[in-house]
Amino acid sequence: MKLLIRGGRLIDPANGIDGQYDVLVENGLISRVSERISDETAEVLDAEGKIVAPGLIDMHVHLRDPGLHHKETIETGTAAAAAGGFTAVACMPNTVPPVDNRAVVRYIIERARNAGIVKVYPIGNVTKGGEGGELTEIGELKEAGVVALSDDGNPVVNSEIMRRAMEYAKMFGLTIIDHCEDPYLKAGGVMNEGYMATLLGLRGIPDAAEEVMVARDIILAEMTGCPVHIAHVSTAGSVRMIREAKSRGVRITAEATPHHFTLTDKAVVGYDTATKVSPPLRSEKDREAVLEGLVDGTIDVIATDHAPHAREEKEVEYDYAPCGMVGLETAVPLVAEQLVNGNILSWSDAIRKMTVEPARILNLPLGTLGTGAHADIVIIDPEMEAVVDPDRFYSKGKNTPFKGWKLKGWPVCTIVDGRIVMKDKRVLAGR
Ligand code: DOR
Repeated sequence: MKLLIRGGRLIDPANGIDGQYDVLVENGLISRVSERISDETAEVLDAEGKIVAPGLIDMHVHLRDPGLHHKETIETGTAAAAAGGFTAVACMPNTVPPVDNRAVVRYIIERARNAGIVKVYPIGNVTKGGEGGELTEIGELKEAGVVALSDDGNPVVNSEIMRRAMEYAKMFGLTIIDHCEDPYLKAGGVMNEGYMATLLGLRGIPDAAEEVMVARDIILAEMTGCPVHIAHVSTAGSVRMIREAKSRGVRITAEATPHHFTLTDKAVVGYDTATKVSPPLRSEKDREAVLEGLVDGTIDVIATDHAPHAREEKEVEYDYAPCGMVGLETAVPLVAEQLVNGNILSWSDAIRKMTVEPARILNLPLGTLGTGAHADIVIIDPEMEAVVDPDRFYSKGKNTPFKGWKLKGWPVCTIVDGRIVMKDKRVLAGR
């Protein structure tokens, strides 16, 4: 079982590498990285003109399994991940039943192992049922295999419960990932509050709905010493507060999604329900602040918040549609187009935010192509151009506002533990 990836531009931020190198994979592990490798017994993958990088890690996806199979399953969600260049995903617990007990954690791990496409790491609930009322058995969840805690989809509104959650999470070495949104300030809003909402006649969600929760989480993270990760940062005020907290040494990290660094609330014109997300698409000033946060390291991670919904659920009036858009199969070309071709980040910095950083926050032994590491690899063709076509997604969710966008820079091969799981946009395992 040998695979030789030849002639590519190897970008391995964990090891400070950006240059022309061959990579030899043996028995699922990286066995050599060198300028020129010959091995006649190995299967050769020609990567000339392509980028070879550690397999991407998406620390924020919704696989909808168990219980919501009309939206996605572990099989279809991990196939979508492989198609998008991801070799590992961490999945959020707002399933049916939710991931608030050991049995559900085991189910996800077992089912992902059987699907056998990419690695799946469950995130457990902070509170029972994700309802914000009573803490889960955090030690039991950790023992069963969760890599972090979150009530994503919902914030943990009660600050006393969040304080206790942080104290326990810290004891068990887990990060808390918070969906920051004050439901009282959200007050039934469906898009960003401001000129566009007024123009479209839709109820707005103020920046403050996110920011009061970010502020509270920073204060509690500082008080408890627990590592806290702010999910899908969408406002300039959040970026500013996270930057300031980091400068004082608070254990806080943050992520941004491709949709928040690409789109603004202007995308809601036309009432396409694929643009309805939580937190909402914000103003240009907020989008620019998110970009600045990505550049100066305030925002550590790029994560998709892949949130598939069934067609019939989204084909309703804007007010009634569920929040979320799919992201796994458009993340790389959006990063390429917006961040790299847009001269915001280098490929190396963008890849770091999709490999080393999520691995660090979740404590995963991934995100590096050092000798002896798991051979989880993505090959990206930075010159490839293609039009986003949701009908060709492996995800069951077709809810993307990027339909018809022509983008440049696509993943062309995904390798998990030395096994090719996607080549030329075709997922080879699990379907
Ligand atoms: O838009 C969103 N959809 N944001 C979230 O945080 C949750 C997600 C979902 O579960 O659909």
